[in-house]
Amino acid sequence: MGKHLIIANWKMNLTIHEGSLLVHKLSELTQNHRTVDVVLAPGFLNLQSLNLQIDHSKFKLCAQNFYWRDAGAFTGEVSANQLRGLVSYALVGHSERRHIFGEAGREIGRKVQAAIRHDIKPVLCVGETAMERGDGETNDVLHDQLVAGLANVTSDDMKHVIIAYEPVWAIGSGNSATPDDVEKASAMIRRQIQHMFGAQVARDVQVLYGGSVSMDNARGYLDTKGVNGLLIGGASLHADQFASIIKTAHQSLSGKK
Ligand code: 13P
Repeated sequence: MGKHLIIANWKMNLTIHEGSLLVHKLSELTQNHRTVDVVLAPGFLNLQSLNLQIDHSKFKLCAQNFYWRDAGAFTGEVSANQLRGLVSYALVGHSERRHIFGEAGREIGRKVQAAIRHDIKPVLCVGETAMERGDGETNDVLHDQLVAGLANVTSDDMKHVIIAYEPVWAIGSGNSATPDDVEKASAMIRRQIQHMFGAQVARDVQVLYGGSVSMDNARGYLDTKGVNGLLIGGASLHADQFASIIKTAHQSLSGKK
């Protein structure tokens, strides 16, 4: 059984000072569990100072976004080339990027490739909207997002790719998916990955769940077959809640199916 991967997505929250304070509290509240990889995705401005502040055996850093070209006249953008060495992971295709900023399949695929090119593990986020779910299109949406996001990725590259199932209707809504929903989605994701890259890659790929994860419901997902970790928004902004989820992740591995 592999480790659990727990990612804190701060989104556009916390000042540099508040972020530093949160990590300080979190360090005090968490032990270094060999069974859990803990990853922080603060805003860009926090990355450099946190890189100096954190104990790297305890926390890794993640970018929330980046542009797929390496350099050039792209005002306001940050490239994977610039993030290289600073972050170990980067979110790609988060639903807020897709739905608020209009990111689409081809661009998301290019970002996955750019991350891999620069030794950054892409966390490809996929998930259906409430309307798509209502129309019974969840599997089609996951299929299309995986095909576009993983275009031109090789089986070997897949060792570095993580998939996060984040149903749009569950994000920030308090209306989390059930572990049963997540088990089905994870199975669908692995079937599609098997189709594209073979059975071994489908077994090995880490699949996370995100969407209104809390201290109270985290264990249910972590104990779910096919789920390797969590992508957490709101609850990651509170040191005590996030530390409690890390502890839960550590405990759940012993009883994992
Ligand atoms: P919440 O945990 O706030 O629902 O956010 C989930 C998310 O989007 C993490 O990327």
